[in-house]
Parts: sequence; C-alpha cells; structure tokens
Amino acid sequence: MKSIENLKNIENKNVILRLDLNVPIKNGKITDTNRIDKILPTLNFLIKKKAKIIIISHVGRPNGKIVEELSLVPISLCIKDKIKKEVFLLKENIFKINKRDIFKSSNYEVVLLENIRFYPEEEANDDKFSEKLASLGDIYVNDAFSCSHRDHASVSKITKYIPSYCGIQINTEVNALDKITSKIKKPVTCIIGGSKISSKINIIKNLIPKFNNIIIVGAMANNIFKYKGLKIGKSIYEKNIDKIIHEIFSYAEKNDCKIYFPKDVKVGKRLNDKSIEKNFENIEDDDLILDVGSKTLIEIKKIIDSSSTLLWNGPLGYFENINFSLGSSEIAKYIASKGDNIFSVVGGGDTVAVINALNMSNKFNFVSTAGGAFLEYLEGKVLPGIKALN
Ligand code: 3PG
Repeated sequence: MKSIENLKNIENKNVILRLDLNVPIKNGKITDTNRIDKILPTLNFLIKKKAKIIIISHVGRPNGKIVEELSLVPISLCIKDKIKKEVFLLKENIFKINKRDIFKSSNYEVVLLENIRFYPEEEANDDKFSEKLASLGDIYVNDAFSCSHRDHASVSKITKYIPSYCGIQINTEVNALDKITSKIKKPVTCIIGGSKISSKINIIKNLIPKFNNIIIVGAMANNIFKYKGLKIGKSIYEKNIDKIIHEIFSYAEKNDCKIYFPKDVKVGKRLNDKSIEKNFENIEDDDLILDVGSKTLIEIKKIIDSSSTLLWNGPLGYFENINFSLGSSEIAKYIASKGDNIFSVVGGGDTVAVINALNMSNKFNFVSTAGGAFLEYLEGKVLPGIKALN
C-alpha cells in the first residue's frame, strides 16, 4: 500500500480522508473516543503538511436515510477539541457541492461531511456517487481499517477515480495483523473466546495451519465439553455442532496444532451469582459455567510462557459480573507482564472492553479497534478497502 507518509507537496491539496468514526454515542455524548484518538496522528500529519482535509465517515446504520440521532455533530465537536482547530460539518447534499467551493467561503482547514450512510449510494457502492466523492479531492486516503471489510463507495470504489493512499493507523493495523497471520514469530498461540463457536469456525480453521496452540475459552468451550461428554449443567451451547468440533480436532492434529480447552470452571446458578470453582464431575444440572478455573489459568500461563507471539480475541468468562471476570483479568495482566518477550495482539469489542476496564491498553503491542474487519482479516479474507489500495 502506498502510504501518505511518503507524500510530498500536498500543501493546499484537497485530501479526502476516509475514517471510521463510528463511535458509541449516548444522549448526544460520545462514550468512547478510542477510534478518534487513534486517527489523530494522520490528521495532525495532514495539518502539518498544510493539506485541506475533507473527512468522510459513517456512524451507525441509517440505511440510506437521514437519521438526526446519527448526525456527526458530536464527532465534529470532539475532533475540534482534540486538534484545536475549527472543523466545519458540511450538511449540504454532496451532489450539489464541488471542489472549487468546498473551502472557498471559510478559513476552515478541516471539513467533515455529514454521515455518508445517509446516502443509499454509499452502501450500494454506486459508481456515480464514488466518482462525485472523488471529484471533491486531489488525493484519497483510507485510514479506516475497521470498515475496510465493507465494499462501499467511500471505502473501495472511490479509489477507481483518484490517486489513493493508506493512512498511518491502517498501516499500523495491517502490519500488526501481518505479524499474527503471515510474518509470524513462532511459537504462536491464540486464545479465542466468545459465545458461538460456529461464528469463529473460519478463523480457527484459518489459524490452525499457522499456529502452535489454540486455546478455546468462553461460552464456546461449552460445545467442546459437551462433545467430550463432560457435564455442562444448564450452560448455553449450540445444537448440531459436533461435526464442526470433530473437524477442528482432526484438522489440528494433521497440522500439528494443539487445541486446549478449560480443565476446570467456575459456575453460578444465575448470571449475577457468586462464583464457585468446580471440576466437571461436580457440575449440577442447574449450574451455569461462567469462567475458567484456577487449574486452567495455570495451564494457560504456561502456554503463554512458551509463546513468542500471542493473539487474543474473546473474554475467558462472563466478565460483566466481577465474580466471573478473574479468568480474563488474570490473563490480561499475565500477557502484559511479559513486556517485550512476547508480541501480543488483542482485538474484538469485548476483549478490548476488558483491557480498557483494567486500564491496560498500552501494555499490549497492538489493540485493534476493529470488530468485523479484524475477524474477517483473521479468517484470511481479502478486505475490499485494502485490496483497493493495493
Ligand atoms: C464497525 O464498527 O465495525 C465499522 O464501523 C463497520 O460498521 P458496520 O458493521 O455497520 O458496517
């Protein structure tokens, strides 16, 4: 990918910057500015180079209609605050504006277009719309890894009509993910959790040939317990999944990849219960498995000790209840304690939430802000936004 960092002479050039500013907003207030903070280096780089910046982003899923609650007003105010510069939120219909006028009547250096998904043409990946967007700038920059799995007008098709580059954040993200998908330093371990094994099956299958160890945790491990004939009480599990689990084990064996799952667990009778540690034979019919037990933590720590690279996606237990959060927090702290002895990549909304709650996001080599894009990349899919930049 050609990076903006190598660009010279962009003074006074109109740079269209696709960002993913899809941040959580409650009652008009942004509750997590992580995604905005991460793109500040790109924004400041362009400001320093005296470029004229036109930011494009979406928020939510307005389905091609104007939805006032999904306006980018709070985001424009937040960016203004962070870069200490005026940001003009341009609400005018994109089809009615042109390159000459966009910065003409103001002293703004940064213009933010209103939510791009207010236009049905965005998600339809419409040719005319992409061409119109491209006509507003001299250069296009994608710094939105987290929506690069979307084949949308402002993400992929626009690159057909304008010289296109990648931003600083997307480059960092792809480089970090390369270290766990292609340029891996072995031994490499993946800790993977979540509620449904069926939704992560393609990731597991893609990682098996490259990884030494895959540790399956969280509610999705319940399917393995059941497959192995262990008691799970009234814990959630997926029906008709045995064939998939059988495939995972035999594919792993063929590829010399070890699959681990918890040896012991913590249970409660309800989600808001206290936790009791149990071996499988003591699990009662009305028990819910909600975290890993202490023997499991010892085993996971040993595997971490022997790893050079680690990928973590999905909490180990029901961390929303502090009584079942120990598995996730212990492992987060243990990975962090390894410092430079391990290359650690963490991703996925819930896992990032665990790390943020522990105030530890700077203790990992890379924490991905992407949700769907992160998972699709791990599945080995080519993301349309990245492909377009190549
Ligand atoms: C995300 O939050 O993962 C991206 O902004 C993509 O959003 P989407 O799933 O609505 O396309």
